[in-house]
Amino acid sequence: MNTATTSRDRRGVPDAARVEAAVKIYGSSDTAVTALDGVSVGFPAGRFTAIMGPSGSGKSTLMHCAAGLDTLTSGAAYIGDTELGSLDDRRLTLLRRDRVGFVFQAFNLVPTLTVAENITLPMDLAGRRFDQDGLEWTDALIDVVGLRDRLHHRPAELSGGQQQRVAVARAFAGRPDVVFADEPTGNLDSRSGQEVLGLLGRAVREMGRTVVMVTHDPVAAAHADEVVFLADGRLVDRMAAPTADKVLDRLKAFDTRSATMPEGAPS
Ligand SMILES: Nc1ncnc2c1ncn2[C@@H]1O[C@H](COP(=O)(O)OP(=O)(O)OP(=O)(O)O)[C@@H](O)[C@H]1O
Ligand SMILES: [Mg+2]
Repeated sequence: MNTATTSRDRRGVPDAARVEAAVKIYGSSDTAVTALDGVSVGFPAGRFTAIMGPSGSGKSTLMHCAAGLDTLTSGAAYIGDTELGSLDDRRLTLLRRDRVGFVFQAFNLVPTLTVAENITLPMDLAGRRFDQDGLEWTDALIDVVGLRDRLHHRPAELSGGQQQRVAVARAFAGRPDVVFADEPTGNLDSRSGQEVLGLLGRAVREMGRTVVMVTHDPVAAAHADEVVFLADGRLVDRMAAPTADKVLDRLKAFDTRSATMPEGAPS
């Protein structure tokens, strides 16, 4: 493996995931939709990055292509040094299973399994045996997400916030290189949402994990170390040390600008 090509951000931190010149076109000819129009962006290891932008700007598409859930029309997506386009289906499935974690808006838990079984499901499916380290890691996770007294409950017996905390624990259980979350607080009340965001932040700051989160919510984005902004399938800005107010101002500026820009004007 050629580590000399490892992409690093401005502070010299390697990227856990990145895309280069990413183009994604859905459909063909007159029904074609360009969801990503040449996006290059890295998600540094050990950091929490939020992806923001108007509805339809390509946030979910970027996340799905970066995570190997969907393929790019052109350009390249990497997890670490592994270029996803170079993998056959089997290797891609293994990469998704072993190196990437997911949290979705709909919690996507298995209803017939207990909380404990849901959390360890990815490793159980992989036939991965828990070594001492792995046992300690999942044990710590259970405390972090505050579900020790719910381990033998089934998802239907939990609140939405508790279910999403199970999904967060499951995403981190296999110690993946990067956890992708698409609107993880979209179905939660603000208090449960804050809890889930707090967990994602702790996973990064206290446990050294990497998180990439799509969100509409400036308050949620303020939990990240950096926000990247998409518009019309393009990367239009990045903001370090975001606060909810700064993010909101940026989004407003953006709305005014696009509203006053004539069709087809260069951005
Ligand atoms: N499977 C698909 N087939 C055709 N077009 C699609 C498909 N998925 C997304 N699109 C289109 O691609 C563009 C980007 O969609 P995407 O879901 O990435 O946006 P988004 O930023 O996540 O939006 P939202 O905030 O509403 O979730 C949109 O115009 C959308 O209609
Ligand atoms: Mg989306």
